[in-house]
Parts: sequence; structure tokens; C-alpha cells
Amino acid sequence: MKKQTRHIEFTVYNGINELKTQERELLKAAIDAIGKAYAPYSQFRVGAAVLLGNGKIVTGNNQENAAYPSGMCAERVAIWNAMSQYPDETILKVALTARSSVKTLNEPVAPCGACRQTMLEYEYRQNQPIEVIFTGEKGPVVKASSISDLLPIAFDDSFLKK
Ligand code: THU
Repeated sequence: MKKQTRHIEFTVYNGINELKTQERELLKAAIDAIGKAYAPYSQFRVGAAVLLGNGKIVTGNNQENAAYPSGMCAERVAIWNAMSQYPDETILKVALTARSSVKTLNEPVAPCGACRQTMLEYEYRQNQPIEVIFTGEKGPVVKASSISDLLPIAFDDSFLKK
């Protein structure tokens, strides 16, 4: 028996203004996307923005459903929107943020596990890291330089191959 550890690294900025212009613009696109979220059940509105290698920004937001599990997170709406339109492009960065009608979100809103798994699929596919940037309504902004840092010990296609 042996114990193992994983070291993960990420950057914490004090606020959106500490980001460089391109990343601030990406986060602003995610903030804008919140406005079109459909979240009547949770009142938790999430926006996500994907920056592609061709410079395009593709956005998405959460889409809920009366049959709750039939809804979808903002990140996956954005990523699948991007990849269905530009299947040959590289995903450089994904930014996300949220607003709640229950409270002010002062802490960075982290992507859920299923969205991390989805992003990881494309990171493997393109063999290039995807940066992930997330924040709340105000307060710190977290940036991970690779989605794999946010999903250590992951399931991948190696298990499916001989
Ligand atoms: N949600 C996202 O859009 N992204 C996440 O990473 C976590 C959760 C959405 C799903 C649901 O519409 C609402 O937030 C509450 O869970």
C-alpha cells in the first residue's frame, strides 16, 4: 500500500480587472450570456464563453427543464455550440460565471463535474490544454491553465481501447 498525492496549481486574481484584456473580454461575454439563461427552477443563471483558436467567442447559458435532469449547464451548451459549429478549431479558454436571485455570489463559481469531464474530452482530442476561468458576481477570479488540473484521476478513452 502506498499513499499518493496530486498537486494542482491555479491562479487567483483579486477581481476581473486584474485579468488581461482578452480574458476580461471573454468573461464579459460569459456575463452577457447570463442574460439569456433559462433558469426558472433554480433561479441560478450561468453564462459561459469559449474562446477558439480562430479568435471567435462562442457563448452558452444554462437551459433548465421541468423534468430537471433534462436541463443542461451553461458550459456544455457553450462548448457543444462551439464544437458543433467549428469542429476543427482548438478551444483555448472557457470562462464562466453566474448570478443567483437567492444571494450575491462572492466566491468563484466552479464548473460542475460533468462539465469538467466534457471539457476534458476536447482537451484530449486537441492535445492542447484548455484554460478555465471562473468567478462569481464579484470577488476573486480563478484561472486553471488546464482542465485536467480540475479533474485529476479522470476517465478517458484509454479504458475503451484494447
Ligand atoms: N449549472 C451550470 O450551468 N453549470 C455548472 O457548472 C453548475 C450548475 C446550472 C445547472 C442548473 O441550471 C443550475 O446551474 C443549478 O444547478
